[in-house]
Amino acid sequence: MRTSRWTLWLLAIAPFAIARAAVASPAPPAQLGLCAACHGENGHARIPGAPNLAGQPYRYLLQALHEYRNGERRVPVMRAAAGPLTEKDMQALAHWYAAQSPCKPGQAGRP
Ligand code: HEC
Repeated sequence: MRTSRWTLWLLAIAPFAIARAAVASPAPPAQLGLCAACHGENGHARIPGAPNLAGQPYRYLLQALHEYRNGERRVPVMRAAAGPLTEKDMQALAHWYAAQSPCKPGQAGRP
């Protein structure tokens, strides 16, 4: 009887455990390749002048993408990058970068 209780308990918590893992590290978004050359796959910038996105708040990242797309932030390179994205793409990318480990102090801004 003990074993079956264990099994039931595991079955009961498994969905929560899986959901937590998904929040901690979502699957790489389909459009990540459009951003990685400058921001890195993990959000650690790869070129001078590109900001580190890793660990920034989801809402901030999403807001920034909206602002590049609608021209509130006038940065041609980011306007071009955000142009073809759907709302879902932007959410997925913002989630992804928000979930990455931030750069260590002193590492910021360096490729
Ligand atoms: C050619 C290089 C390049 C590519 C490709 C690129 N970016 Fe950027 N990104 C930049 C630069 C440069 C900035 C800083 C712009 C500014 O001064 O506002 C920036 C800024 C940002 C910011 C604002 C960060 C902040 O701290 O305010 C976000 C969010 C962002 N990019 C997301 C993306 C996403 C998502 C993609 C892929 C769809 C992408 N970028 C593709 C160069 C790039």
